[in-house]
Amino acid sequence: MTSAFFIPTVNLMGAGCLKDAADNIQSQGFKKGLIVTDKILNQIGVVKKIQDLLTERGVGTVVFDGTQPNPTISNVNGGLALLKENDCDFVVSLGGGSPHDCAKGIALVASNGGEIADYEGVDQSAKPMLPLIAINTTAGTASEMTRFCIITDEERHIKMAIVDKHTTPLVSVNDPELMLAKPASLTAATGMDALTHAVEAYVSTAATPITDAVAIKAIELIQAHLRTAVKDGGNLEAREQMAYAQFMAGMAFNNASLGYVHAMAHQLGGFYDLPHGVCNAVLLPHVQRYNSQVVPDRLRDVAKAMGVDVEGLTPEQGADAAIAAIVDLAKDVGIPAGIKELGAKSEDIPTLADNALKDACGFTNPKQATHEEISAIFEAAM
Ligand SMILES: [Fe+2]
Repeated sequence: MTSAFFIPTVNLMGAGCLKDAADNIQSQGFKKGLIVTDKILNQIGVVKKIQDLLTERGVGTVVFDGTQPNPTISNVNGGLALLKENDCDFVVSLGGGSPHDCAKGIALVASNGGEIADYEGVDQSAKPMLPLIAINTTAGTASEMTRFCIITDEERHIKMAIVDKHTTPLVSVNDPELMLAKPASLTAATGMDALTHAVEAYVSTAATPITDAVAIKAIELIQAHLRTAVKDGGNLEAREQMAYAQFMAGMAFNNASLGYVHAMAHQLGGFYDLPHGVCNAVLLPHVQRYNSQVVPDRLRDVAKAMGVDVEGLTPEQGADAAIAAIVDLAKDVGIPAGIKELGAKSEDIPTLADNALKDACGFTNPKQATHEEISAIFEAAM
């Protein structure tokens, strides 16, 4: 089997690397950038900080702060109109997954034309997107370094998965100083999203020795640092370790892809407008229970990375221990116990299962499920 490995050309990490990002932008000779972000980051002055760093270096900026938590087709169109009006030659995304995904959508349509919906699926675009410098403020979706772009179609009430070799950012920036002020609930949700990326990539049918190595290290770091990052948001060490963890989880799933947790979470998120990380966190143990029928040995490795002494455990016992460790971590960081608490209704499950089976993220799940099986997993997660 052959494999390809996608990652941004330059990846800046560590406290204070925001300045290095501004130097990098200047050195590339860009003239004017569209900063894609949200209202809160604009109000609290983080956008201004980046604008000032770029102005000092002779680079112009214009701000689109209309990104919603689950970015929509209209968000992409709004940013694109501003980019065209201002003749921007590059894009900066600032925030968590939503601004990065919105920016990828804008930059992809800017160079390829048409509508963002034209690029739903895998590698549907003809040309690279406009250069994107992705500055991350959460740990994390890892969208600052992946080729995944998730845009909500507000009319169809679904999330479109765009997986495209042309949506890999040029530069990713993970400065943990930008992550210090994040609230506990967001830290928990995004941290559990990163754990889901690592676990799904590790049990994926497209896993390779490269993705295995980074997935396991990511799980170890999340187990060691997520609780502290949630409890003590100002702890720079925990924030920095979580930034590395989410980045490695991103390296893993960007190349090994994901599984049914994401395929199902996209539907919950799109249907009820719920936070992505929380949906994943609730579904993760249930989908791994299903997967333990075929990959108990892989899940035993997950248990070991989560600090369980697996010596003497059978693969099946190891898989049980992994699921228990995931449930413990989710509970400790305040994740709800079931999707009913999030507003999911039993009568919607057939539709959610229909759409989950169409989501490209599920294609690499280690066991392919029937509609009935996906519905049963949703039901178990209620
Ligand atoms: Fe995710």
